Amino acid sequence: MSHYHIKHLEEYYQVYRKSVREPENFWEEIAEEHFLWRKKWDKVLSWDFTKPEVKWFEGAQLNITENCIDRHLSTRGDKTAILFEPNDPNEPAEHITYRQLYERVNQFANVLKEQGIQRGDRVCIYVPMIPELAISILACARIGAIHSVVFAGFSSKALATRINDSECKLVVTADGSYRGAKTIDLKGIVDEALQNCPSVKSVLVVKRTNEDVHMEAGRDHWLEPLLDKASKEGKAEIMNAEDPLFILYTSGSTGRPKGMVHTSAGYMVYTAYTFKNTFQYREHDIFWCTADIGWITGHSYIVYGPLANGATTVMFEGVPSYPDFGRFWEIVQKHKVTQFYTAPTAIRALAKQGVELVDKYDLSSLKVLGSVGEPINEEAWHWYNDTIGKGKSPIVDTWWQTETGGIMITPIPFVTPTKPTYATLPFIGVQPALMDDNGQEIKGNQVDGKLCIKFPWPSMARTIWGDHQRYKDTYFSAFENKYFTGDGALRDEVGYYRITGRVDDVIIVSGHNLGTAPIEDAINEHPAVSESAIVGFPHDVKGNALYGYVTLKDTGESRNHENLRKEINQLITDRIGPIAKLDKIQFTQGLPKTRSGKIMRRILRKIASNDTSNLGDTSTLLNPEVVQEIMDNVL
Ligand code: WTA
Repeated sequence: MSHYHIKHLEEYYQVYRKSVREPENFWEEIAEEHFLWRKKWDKVLSWDFTKPEVKWFEGAQLNITENCIDRHLSTRGDKTAILFEPNDPNEPAEHITYRQLYERVNQFANVLKEQGIQRGDRVCIYVPMIPELAISILACARIGAIHSVVFAGFSSKALATRINDSECKLVVTADGSYRGAKTIDLKGIVDEALQNCPSVKSVLVVKRTNEDVHMEAGRDHWLEPLLDKASKEGKAEIMNAEDPLFILYTSGSTGRPKGMVHTSAGYMVYTAYTFKNTFQYREHDIFWCTADIGWITGHSYIVYGPLANGATTVMFEGVPSYPDFGRFWEIVQKHKVTQFYTAPTAIRALAKQGVELVDKYDLSSLKVLGSVGEPINEEAWHWYNDTIGKGKSPIVDTWWQTETGGIMITPIPFVTPTKPTYATLPFIGVQPALMDDNGQEIKGNQVDGKLCIKFPWPSMARTIWGDHQRYKDTYFSAFENKYFTGDGALRDEVGYYRITGRVDDVIIVSGHNLGTAPIEDAINEHPAVSESAIVGFPHDVKGNALYGYVTLKDTGESRNHENLRKEINQLITDRIGPIAKLDKIQFTQGLPKTRSGKIMRRILRKIASNDTSNLGDTSTLLNPEVVQEIMDNVL
């Protein structure tokens, strides 16, 4: 019998050891006993990190939606699969049962087929957090189309870049979206993007806000009438284990986003298994992950992981502050949420509001609290543990990435003793390594280094869409034969891991990964700007905020700095989205550079963080004099 559900610490260690000693046997048992296969695999795993190439369950055939929907119909047909809580608290919540989900996914899949979408085609999904977002994802998976969800807060330029990178044929969107008291003209953003997207042949539009929107004849279709005509039955396309399931873009250190490609079988097995254990999920639980499905957390732990376990998964359309900062707790009480999974930035924002807004609500249904997206600081951890969990709901601080597909380092609640700010132990099958700057693995405890993973796990991304070389360069070249995460970590005296943060040019702001290069590219488009450098600095709610150092072209004219700041942030909003706006912009005469012309971000980071006691030797810089000037004018 496989250990699908781990219940005590000794069992964890025993299963973990097995997963390392005999990974193939271990994963084969999990896969065999808990999933529905059309055909079993010929080989559990083949891998070579030098290429890199990883294949799990090769030769197997399946459809992930049969695992997430069809197989539950006989036992859970009337159980709520998706519990939709709208932005407006006065609008009733919607309970979509597994049977209804089956019908709605088939209808959607049939509409996609009618629009000419076939197996392997890419479909871009730019939809707010409404049920159609999850349904369109599953509809793509049902017919073997590759979904590429783009977070509906990205700008038209960012959307166009992503559509073009994977040459999507169809876009699913909505007329508009609600975010708290605001309404966003989503269709307008799509129209703008599509001016430069030749691959897109059709657009399906969900009605949500009932705004008057432009509908391009021959290209745009309202979804509802098409769904109404479509059959509620439909066969799932039989997919190969390693067929791409989806593409999801993440920031990188160059301007172009990286389209991480996840495949079917391994992703399914790993997200389902981590979901079950990390949240100690039981049959009648109500699981709520507050992430947006536009990010990996939503893909894996709102859609696929929960549904593969036949769970009830909450989808919340709104924001934590609307109509007031008690909204999350109101929803927990209303739906008797048992597992609550959110980001440290939300916890910090809520902790600022005082306890009255928490005490108004009955949170006694909660059993497990999760955290994801960035390191959770000690203060936020204690507030979450004491004020929300009342000391009885363990916090699972889950470390993972878009690239890893599923949770990699985490406590298992009621199994692993927690420790504030520590993600604690590797999940079953995960083999972390800490590396020094000479490329050597650092063994033993009480050490810190760069975090790598030295053995494949089933849900790892297989490539970057259209650019395998970049996949290799980014993740498999820094350390020989290892996947490099881009994060630093330390291991304490008992082997617990604490993630210390990014060691590359990615900055995590409010839990969102932002690459410095695309932001700098956007700023440099301003006609008055000569050069710019972005760094992160500590922020009490966002974790990090962005600090921009900008040098201006010498045109002899005097410039109004306040206006320039606004224009720069507007450019960033247009090119990327409001999430990438800068909190502070300092205009400087120059940027500190090495003799080879590389900007010394380390110095800029320290100045922005008000930590100038140890700037190191600046005398070897090309232009040491600018350091003093920058320090004198720091904001
Ligand atoms: C960071 C989100 C500390 C980390 C699932 C990682 C974390 C990046 C944690 C991936 C955590 C995520 N503790 N840091 N529990 N979880 N991170 O791709 O730097 O949006 O590399 O995936 O977020 O962000 P991504």
